[in-house]
Amino acid sequence: MLNSSWRINLKDITLTNLINSKDLSKEILEAIFERASFFKKNYKGKNFPFLEGKNLALALFEPSTRTKFSFELAAKRLSAEVINFDVSSSSTSKGETVVDTLWTLEAMGIDIFIVRHQQAGIFDQIQTHVVKNLVNAGDGERDHPTQGLLDSFTLIERFGDISGLNLTIVGDIKNSRVARSNYHILKEQGVNISICAPDSLSPKDDFSDIPKHDNIDSAIEQSDVLMMLRIQKERMGTKELSIEGDYNSNYSLTIDKFNKKKDLVVLHPGPVNYGIEMEKSVAFHDNCLLQKQVENGVFIRMAVLSLLAGE
Ligand code: CP
Repeated sequence: MLNSSWRINLKDITLTNLINSKDLSKEILEAIFERASFFKKNYKGKNFPFLEGKNLALALFEPSTRTKFSFELAAKRLSAEVINFDVSSSSTSKGETVVDTLWTLEAMGIDIFIVRHQQAGIFDQIQTHVVKNLVNAGDGERDHPTQGLLDSFTLIERFGDISGLNLTIVGDIKNSRVARSNYHILKEQGVNISICAPDSLSPKDDFSDIPKHDNIDSAIEQSDVLMMLRIQKERMGTKELSIEGDYNSNYSLTIDKFNKKKDLVVLHPGPVNYGIEMEKSVAFHDNCLLQKQVENGVFIRMAVLSLLAGE
């Protein structure tokens, strides 16, 4: 167990909520990455006491595996009590709003809220009732800050300084909160971002200032990193869904294409539609950091939760 001097050499910042990736300055990013490194180095199977006596609610109104379980593990490793909110058996099925639900949980003594919801911008409504210790675990296609954080942390582990790195975000960018969170977080760190997507999956307003590749071969040629995105069928209309036939030849990453560029690094936030955005064998390539991203997600979330707790 660490004594109270554990944070003496860590950057001192205040974090009240984590809702918008664009609010994360370079200074805040560095403080979060420093803490994540600290937890990755020092977690040896014994929990830290930093959230002792705190109650954390996992209020995920959309399905999740990675985000949900890594927040739960992170909270438990910091000694929090974790309450899992089950949407299907809750009073939301009687019409209670997400805002009233979280306000009700706050009255019961919940200290920290991890919230995922299908409605982009839902936190504007939530904050009319609950104002602090809110973490955005994904709001519609708008933002997913801890995903952006864990992606950058994984790249920093791999490359060291990531400013000047050439990274292309490939696939369903229009419907992707992962793309939007990464856009802000990577830009703040000086990464050269480009996109690669069919017109029907390209964003209309965001990303207007960045270059676009028309196919994955051009993206591979000009990138150090490809960030492959999941085709998000749950957010698509029938017109967008019909692109799938052409998608494979122009935007899918095959193992042959991956092998053609020795140092190319690939990220994917998961879950993966194998055979659509990439072949299964891509996931087992040494330069595909899919599993590393998941591993690092726990330490990034420990860092964020410890900062929310004022530690
Ligand atoms: N990357 C991500 O958010 O995965 P989950 O939907 O499984 O949480």
